[in-house]
Amino acid sequence: MMHKTVPVRKESKPVVDATKCKAILAQYPNATSADLIPVLQQMQDAYGYLPQNILEEITATTRIPLSKIYGVITFYSQFSLEPRGKHTIKVCTGTACHIKGAPDIKKKITEVLHIHEGETTKDYKFTYEPVACLGTCFLAPVMMINERYYGKLTTEKTEQILKSY
Ligand code: FES
Repeated sequence: MMHKTVPVRKESKPVVDATKCKAILAQYPNATSADLIPVLQQMQDAYGYLPQNILEEITATTRIPLSKIYGVITFYSQFSLEPRGKHTIKVCTGTACHIKGAPDIKKKITEVLHIHEGETTKDYKFTYEPVACLGTCFLAPVMMINERYYGKLTTEKTEQILKSY
């Protein structure tokens, strides 16, 4: 009888250099669970996200169980387990923006960058995040890239802005 060959799935998680991680952990020689949030914040600042091998390093050094670390990461949306894009795009989906054309702006972003909300471009240039009202309804429809607001958008304007990054 013939057996199908099942392709072996390679582990695709990137392994990053742990030097910065070790320097951060050195500041917490007696780390307890109470130090987890500041430690993870510093790791995320250093790496842009929380790579798997860094989490293993934290466990090995602090003896805080990996399950506890994952518990904290999944509870707080500020932490990311996936590599993020260099620029973060947020398109407002609040009522004012919706009425003034946010759905078309979102479609345009997907068309230009080939990603949907919650995704990152393959080249890690952009991460596209869902967001509710950005608090600048007078600029509707509005998007934010990193810390910068772009208001009164049209699809043409959106495309130009994306291409300027
Ligand atoms: S509804 Fe879009 S900024 Fe408020």
